[in-house]
Amino acid sequence: MAEEITIDASYSKQQKYEVLLPQIAALIAPESDLIANLANVAAALKEVFGWWWVGFYLVKANELVLAPFQGPIACTRIKYGQGVCGTAWKEGKSLLVPDVEKFKGHIACSSKSVAEIVVPIFDKQKQVIAVLDVDSEQFDVLDDTDVHDLEIITTYLSLKF
Ligand code: SME
Repeated sequence: MAEEITIDASYSKQQKYEVLLPQIAALIAPESDLIANLANVAAALKEVFGWWWVGFYLVKANELVLAPFQGPIACTRIKYGQGVCGTAWKEGKSLLVPDVEKFKGHIACSSKSVAEIVVPIFDKQKQVIAVLDVDSEQFDVLDDTDVHDLEIITTYLSLKF
């Protein structure tokens, strides 16, 4: 297994994903432990894109509970339908929030976060079992390219639950 993610910092966002996706697939393929895989995926995304916060919440007893992440400390529990994470869980679809101030009910774990993407992760029965959350401290960084390619990464992870 490769011990490091190799991505040229001068690449465009699309190029970074093109090179990153197979590396993430190779990283998690041989490992069966869920937490180990979530931890490495969070670290890889943080390293390549430098977002303010990136990590996972797991569905546990009708709440989202904080799981492996990279970035500052964060809210530990989020209820179904609350915030961007709880809404993505409830609606079963990815949410791109370019300005968190405009999202009613946004949970501000950090005042630095101004934009966010949340992607649900599904099990084989199409139930949401976790979410991937990305927070940026900059406007105009997160877009549909991220949503599209983060959904590919969450599809890889779905197979590991
Ligand atoms: N902002 C999220 C909460 C999680 S933190 O951003 C890490 C939300 O509204 O659900």
